[in-house]
Amino acid sequence: MEICVLNGSPKGEKSVTMQYTKFLELANPDHSFHTSHISQKISILEKNSTEWEKVINTIQKADIILWAAPVYFQHVPAQYKRFIELIFEKKVDTLFSGKYAASLSTSVHFFDHKVHEYLQGISEDLDMRFVGSFSAAMEDLLQVKNQVELTAFGDDILSACESHRPVIRAYPPVPELIREYNPGVIQDSVDKGDKRVLILHDSKSGSNLEKMVKQMSSQFSGEIDIHHLDDIGIKGGCLGCAQCAFDNQCIYTDGFCSFWENKVKPSDIIVFAGTIRDRYLSSAWKQFFDRSFFLGHIPRFSGKQLIIMVQGPLASVPGLRENLSCLISGGNLVDFVTDEPGDDACIDALISSVAMRAVRYAHAGYRKPPMFPQVAGHIILRDEIWGNLRSVFRADHKYYKSHGLYDFPHYRYKKRISLFFFSLMMSIPSIQKKVKPVMKDHMIQSFTQVFTTSNVLKNRNSKINPGLNTK
Ligand SMILES: Cc1cc2nc3c(=O)[nH]c(=O)nc-3n(C[C@H](O)[C@H](O)[C@H](O)COP(=O)(O)O)c2cc1C
Repeated sequence: MEICVLNGSPKGEKSVTMQYTKFLELANPDHSFHTSHISQKISILEKNSTEWEKVINTIQKADIILWAAPVYFQHVPAQYKRFIELIFEKKVDTLFSGKYAASLSTSVHFFDHKVHEYLQGISEDLDMRFVGSFSAAMEDLLQVKNQVELTAFGDDILSACESHRPVIRAYPPVPELIREYNPGVIQDSVDKGDKRVLILHDSKSGSNLEKMVKQMSSQFSGEIDIHHLDDIGIKGGCLGCAQCAFDNQCIYTDGFCSFWENKVKPSDIIVFAGTIRDRYLSSAWKQFFDRSFFLGHIPRFSGKQLIIMVQGPLASVPGLRENLSCLISGGNLVDFVTDEPGDDACIDALISSVAMRAVRYAHAGYRKPPMFPQVAGHIILRDEIWGNLRSVFRADHKYYKSHGLYDFPHYRYKKRISLFFFSLMMSIPSIQKKVKPVMKDHMIQSFTQVFTTSNVLKNRNSKINPGLNTK
């Protein structure tokens, strides 16, 4: 059987992910593996038609396509995303039709599922038969148990192809949204006071996104910064070299890091404006996110209000919505705005409302409580940085230490001591008998005190009814 491995790591052969595909190759000497280093060669593939044809020929001959990619910023690397865009742009999508496909990734399991969800969705858009995904932690292959599992995964995809295993589609096709947005006249702009607003976009001339950006920019009083991603000095995608881990210094000397320092960092409100391309934003946006890896795992947007403005059918790509919501580490996502509503006045009102809320939240320092993905994500990164990554990701370690992000439960000594005695007490059957009927009361007992002593309540009520709390 012919297996075409499409390598998504910009590190080419020296990729962790490639060690896994190499193992699969060695485990299956009766089958032919052909690897194309897509991300490493993306600029060549884009410009040189002979090189492009070589990859296309390998795909054409293959029985199975193995998407093999590292997880970069909760998605595939920007260079790989660009390759997927090129498949549709160069109209070679029909070559994939009917082939079997599977995905393999390496990562620290931080949003790794988004990569597999995306690659499965893309495979299905290409009319392929997607038969499985394998998400390895970086060092899994060092253990026999995981080597056995990886081999079983390989056997499974080979047998799926041999036996013509039937499949069903997991992700419905993304509908095309064809409507023109014509913005109305803005009545009142929002007084942003001393807050700095930055709008970043990748809009095309005459597009809905361009008009939305214009409409958004007119919402704020005074000067704001607006930049197209093409004009911020990025010369290429993240190379995955991780040299920045020591001191947050990127090996690129293009304008990106200084743009970040001078424009992104000082902003209080940031609008990310992008167009949906296949099942994500553009590869230009992905490149922007990937390149911010020079900051390691430090929350990039702490204290900022963030708006995500999208051209395209966001409601039909729920995975993208979730992905973008979690990208903005440390910041507060005010809301999404899209051009999906059929009526221009509604889009105008959405833009106006989100701008107003962003300014209000910025003044109040509001941040919504994090939900499961952010809470779980923090724990994964915290443990990784403290554990495997600490010796190299020194800048992260320093930041986590100084900002109290090493919030391990076992560090709370007072609580541990009181819990020890509490558990001891609760192990006594006679006490259990007494406690069981009053469990509900016990769970809300400590809140009663909050209602009577909370200064937040007192201050608020004295503002609403000044006579109420004057004594
Ligand atoms: C720019 C960048 C972004 C990353 N983002 C993630 C991430 O979102 N989630 C994760 O689990 N690992 C992330 N990682 C870790 C890589 O997925 C991991 O090191 C992977 O094994 C690298 O594979 P490769 O050597 O094949 O490129 C990131 C690494 C880099 C360099």
